[in-house]
Formats: sequence, C-alpha cells, structure tokens
Amino acid sequence: MATAGDRRQRLLVLVPCPYQGHLNPMLQLGAALQSTGSFSVTVAHTEFHFPNQSNHPQFDFLPVADSLSDADTSSRSFISTILKLNFNCKTSFQQSLTRLREQTDCQDEIACIIYDSLMYFAEEVARELKVPCIIFRACSAANTLTYNEYPRLQEEGFIPLLDSKPLELVPRLHPLRFKDLPIYKFEGLEKLLLLLKRSNEIGTSVAFVLNTIECLEQSPLMKLRQEYPVPFFTIGPLNKIAPPLSSSLIEEDESCIAWLNKQAKNSTLYVSLGSIVSINEKELIEMAWGLANCEHPFLWVVRPGLVHGSEAIDLLPDGFAEIVGERGRVIKWAPQQKVLAHESVGAFWSHCGWNSSLESISEGVPMICTPCFGDQRVNARYLSHVWRVGLSLEDMERGEIERAIKKLMASNEGEIVRQRMTDLKHEVMHSIKEGGSSYNSLHELVKYINAL
Ligand code: UDX
Repeated sequence: MATAGDRRQRLLVLVPCPYQGHLNPMLQLGAALQSTGSFSVTVAHTEFHFPNQSNHPQFDFLPVADSLSDADTSSRSFISTILKLNFNCKTSFQQSLTRLREQTDCQDEIACIIYDSLMYFAEEVARELKVPCIIFRACSAANTLTYNEYPRLQEEGFIPLLDSKPLELVPRLHPLRFKDLPIYKFEGLEKLLLLLKRSNEIGTSVAFVLNTIECLEQSPLMKLRQEYPVPFFTIGPLNKIAPPLSSSLIEEDESCIAWLNKQAKNSTLYVSLGSIVSINEKELIEMAWGLANCEHPFLWVVRPGLVHGSEAIDLLPDGFAEIVGERGRVIKWAPQQKVLAHESVGAFWSHCGWNSSLESISEGVPMICTPCFGDQRVNARYLSHVWRVGLSLEDMERGEIERAIKKLMASNEGEIVRQRMTDLKHEVMHSIKEGGSSYNSLHELVKYINAL
C-alpha cells in the first residue's frame, strides 16, 4: 500500500496484459521505476489472472472489470480473449481511473499510464482523460519489426504465406525466413493480424519502452527508431534490472532447488515450454522418452494444460518414472529464475518465449530452441542463428531430442555454444551496470516522465 510519503510522489499507472509472459516484465518495469524513488505505482488489472497482491506490497492495485465469461477465460484462443478484453475493459478502466483521480484529489498526480501494447484500450482512455501514455512491448525489437512489415508484405502478395517458401528470407527482415514469422501456420490469422494492427498503432503515446538491450538488438532497434517519431527506452533485461519479485500465477515448486543442489555443476538440463504453449499427447510422450534416453539429469516443467484440457503430468508414459528414477524431476511450475541461476543447470530446452530467452541469456545458460508459435519463432532464429547461443530442435521426436541434448551438453560444438552464451551474458550484464545502456535508459526514462 502507498504510504503518506509515497503520496507526494508522482503516480504511474501500469496496464499489463493478463498473461504470465506479459505480467512478469511489466511488474518488473514497475519495480525498477519505483526503485528510483521517483514514483509510486498502481497496477490496473483485469479480474482474469489477477496477480497475488500479497506478493507485491510495494504496489497498489486497481481492479478493472473485464466481463469475461467462463468460456472466454478457458478459451484456447488467447487472441480472441485479448480482443475481447480490449472491447470490454475500456469503460471500466476509464471509470476506475476517474475514481482514482477523485480519491487522490489531484488531477495532475498521475504522471503517465504505461500499457502493454496488446492492451490498446488504455491508450484510448488516456487520450480521453488527457493523461500521457507510454507503450510497453513485452517482446523483442526484431519481433516488433515483423509487425510493421505485415501490411507491406500483404500488398506485395506474400500474405497469406505460401507453404512453398518457408526457407526463403523475408524481404527487409533478414535473417528471418518466412517460417520464422509469427504469423507462420497461425490458426486464426485474420484475428491475429487485426490484433497486431491495433497494437501497432501508437496513437497519442509519447514513447516506447522495450525489454531489450542495445548490444543485443542494435540493427532491429535502429530500424524501429527510423519508423516511429517517438523516443525508445531499452531497459532490459528487466528480470535483472528490477529488484527480485515473484509474479507467478501458478504456485512455484521450490522443492526442486534442494534436488538441484544434489546435481553436479552444469550437469542438468532444465526444460520448460513457458506458460501458454500447448502440445499434443504424442509430443509429450516423445519429450518424455527423449529425456529418459539422453542420460543427463533433467528438471522438467509439465504445467497443467501443457496438453490442452488435461493435468498433463498424468499423461506421462508408463515406465517413465521407473526408468528415470532420481536422474529426472518433473514439476508443475518452477521458480524459473532461481533455477536458471543455479550452478547445476547446464542448458535450457525452451520454447524461446522472450522472457525465458532473456532469463537464460542473463544467467549464461545455452539453449535448445523449440519454438511453438508467434514471436518464439523470431527469438529462436536470433538465438540459434544470430547470437548462436542455442541449437535448433524442430522435431518433437525422441531420437532428435536425445541427439540435440547430447550435442549441447556433451560435445565440442556444445562447448563452443556455451562459451558464446557466457560471452553474451557478460555483454548483456554490463548494460545494467552504472553507465551501461540499460542503466542509462532507465534513468533517462525517469527524467522523461518527470518532464511530461
Ligand atoms: C508468451 C510468448 O511466448 C513470449 O515470447 C511473449 O513475449 C510473452 O508471451 P510465455 O509463453 O509465457 O510468453 O513465455 P515467456 O516469455 O518465456 O514467459 C514465461 C515466464 O514465466 C518467464 O518469466 C518464466 O520465468 C516464468 N516461468 C515459466 C516460471 O516462473 N516458471 C515456470 O515453470 C515456467
């Protein structure tokens, strides 16, 4: 809760998109800005996936009625759910914000609204209430660039994507191939394009904040800066810039740390496909046998819903637990940042969500890259082809899985990838030290907001 002292500070209102991979970096951004001592922070949040407030005593929370039905909240189509949230939340957010301003009794107290680009209704409200607003992007700069290209690619006849061209380079987006585009093989393309179009319009927003690092994405950032007439603040990796906080929507199984303590240095593979990917039962079984056969210790997150509509963990094949024994540990949700920072973790087999990618880079853990959809494909291409800190694994087939794990964890080629990841970690971590690009960008953002 805000203290009497806080009330003299200017207020930032954050509007996160209510999914784990968006909530984490937004709350980290709020914590980073708050740690400068210039602002108090209020998180405006939908009822859907409301974060546990007791984990965040430093923030105030402003509930926003979302009017989602049970069918909406259990829907597999998160694109439809986000479109609905934008439609449903505008009025309730405006009302909540108006009440907040009346309570604080000071029209100028809200310094600005920082909203996730997918929650574009917040920009409409900010415009109507004449409050400055800033866009936050939870994805990479390279991925953001792909959104800008879709209208041009549509005009040039490349969209809908032709199945015959998956390996061709996309004009203006090298080194991305058509199969690396977030729209590749996306079910419900029309809705996705609509969402991306709307989230790409900056409206009256005065700046962009990105969870990225200048040294990592120099070229995409340069192109983005040419496309938009507003300042860009690159404040990544937010998981390292912010004071530690936990915003997990599922309870973290901390017991895995005691298990990791028993493993040798760099010996263990951590496996997680993030918070939203779902695979089919056959793929789960192939993953299980690939891990069982690889002979390395592993910690595997099998989240409820990983196989849609199931607990997933119940679907592991007969005999798997007996064969693996103490060498493997399967849990429902990990304290991921602690796991990646653990010295026994030697590699991360990941879906390459942007947060997971940055968290792995910031701990110097080389990756096996199995993107499933959306921006994960762009991230995987950069990880394996540009930064070359990960190996690509496209097929969920037990033999391929076993080979990729052995290659990364027990071959000379794997050792070279590990060394490159260590070098990249040092470069990235330098950016958050005093005088580094992300450190400077955070302090420039504070000055910028204070001058609004
Ligand atoms: C999705 C997209 O894949 C991602 O690229 C986009 O930027 C955000 O939405 P998600 O699938 O959730 O994200 O993946 P990711 O971006 O990696 O975020 C997952 C977050 O959950 C990470 O911060 C990770 O640390 C956390 N996590 C994951 C846990 O805390 N425990 C787990 O067991 C798994």
